Amino acid sequence: MGHELVQISPTGLPPANESGLGAAPQALDRAISAARADLSRSSSGPRTFYIETFGCQMNVHDSEKVAGVLMARGLRPVENQAEADLVLYNTCSIREKAAQKVFSRLGAFRKASRQAGKIIGVLGCVAQQEGEKIFARAPWVSLVCGSASYTRLPELLEQVKAGRSRVRGLSLETGECFETELVRRDNPFSAYVTIIEGCDEPCAFCVVPMTRGRERSRPSERILADCRRLAEEGYTEIQLLGQIVNHWQDPSSARRSFAGLLSQVAEIPGVRRVRFATSHPRYFTPEIVRAIENHPALCDQVHLPVQSGSSRVLSRMRRAYTREEYLEKINCIRSARRAISISTDIIVGFCGETREDFEQTVALLDQVEYDQVFSFKFSPRPDTAAAGFEDTVPEDEKRRRLAELQEHQRVIQLRRNQALVGGECEVLVESFQPRLQQAVGRTTSNRVVNFPGRPEWVGRYVQVRVTAAGPNSLVGVRADQALSGGVGAPWAIATCTVDGRKATAARRV
Ligand code: 5AD
Repeated sequence: MGHELVQISPTGLPPANESGLGAAPQALDRAISAARADLSRSSSGPRTFYIETFGCQMNVHDSEKVAGVLMARGLRPVENQAEADLVLYNTCSIREKAAQKVFSRLGAFRKASRQAGKIIGVLGCVAQQEGEKIFARAPWVSLVCGSASYTRLPELLEQVKAGRSRVRGLSLETGECFETELVRRDNPFSAYVTIIEGCDEPCAFCVVPMTRGRERSRPSERILADCRRLAEEGYTEIQLLGQIVNHWQDPSSARRSFAGLLSQVAEIPGVRRVRFATSHPRYFTPEIVRAIENHPALCDQVHLPVQSGSSRVLSRMRRAYTREEYLEKINCIRSARRAISISTDIIVGFCGETREDFEQTVALLDQVEYDQVFSFKFSPRPDTAAAGFEDTVPEDEKRRRLAELQEHQRVIQLRRNQALVGGECEVLVESFQPRLQQAVGRTTSNRVVNFPGRPEWVGRYVQVRVTAAGPNSLVGVRADQALSGGVGAPWAIATCTVDGRKATAARRV
């Protein structure tokens, strides 16, 4: 079956196909018969599985691929861990809190592990980082496997099935990407496609190079083949993934550039939206902005983590750019022919960050006017360069800086979102809230929009008029309904709730 990507819903059944979404029937048939053939070969061992995932989009997609590997071997996904013969935790260790969560969760499943035949495995970054220590702290775990060893999963599972109790996949020495025959896709209209794995950046705070191994890029032909197939299967949004997605380097003879790859994905018939994450400012080029300008399918959104607004801190973080160089990239994005929303990641309280350094970060928020900011207190991680630096900012001060930064950004976001009230935007509906009879979706700029809707709109693109805005989301009405009272229908100002707060909304009367 080569490296086909086949979407299978969490229950293993083909997804509902009402709106033309879902897997191509032939591909699905082939996948299911391959799974049955495998199942008949394995008479004992786990029959059902459940994967719980913490962390980033890469982890979410890794779990989709791991589920594909298991389903290709005849295992059936179930809705909760209690029903599963094989329980896998795909873990995150980017910050200490995330890593701690894993151990408390594993503790909670100690009792379940006594169920006859139940197998517990730990995957992902904590598995890689803690390795043997997991067996010591949670002896009920039988399998520990980091992402660089996922290609060995079938073999490791055979060992578990044969009754071995401490099965390890912990080598970081791989030049391979995790290619799977099947991918169980959890979202029926938006599909992740990995383009590069691992990370070679020297960022002083970050554990990823130690947990995901060296950088390795997938060939452009394979990526494009995946995207074409996904489009044929009805996925309209493609999200290209990589720790440093814009450092992708085509290993094939085509030698496409990252911007060239983006353009080609955007030109695939049926693809309406393309996103990519996460970019490193160091490799962010004007060609990427030109590609976005020239291809409407490339979303009006760039996530460009800055981490700090102080060049002194950036240098200690080993980010390889100064505040000024970062701002040049921002200017390039802001000068694009269409408005592109910009989001970022920020760490406060990094080793040696003074009040003045922090104030430069706050000033950067005003200067860039981000549309979204993900902010974190610095958390020292084992084996990173910063683990050897003095953690000079007290926890209380980190907390105060984080709160100050978030409040500052909240005001900026509210202002930027409110400027959209009265305008229209196209929303890809991602879910429906029956209690509120609300559709929830995203704009191309990655803003969340809530509006009165119907369950069958999920997966569709709907034109919405924005009627109210909070700092984190917009409220609207379907544009044709907004106009159904006649062009120039009277609008009144009313109050409603956005982001849990009272807001002012324009309503048709
Ligand atoms: N402490 C706090 N935040 C961190 N991040 C990465 N490592 C750490 C750390 N040790 C943040 C960065 C990164 C995001 C995914 O997580 O901002 O961009």
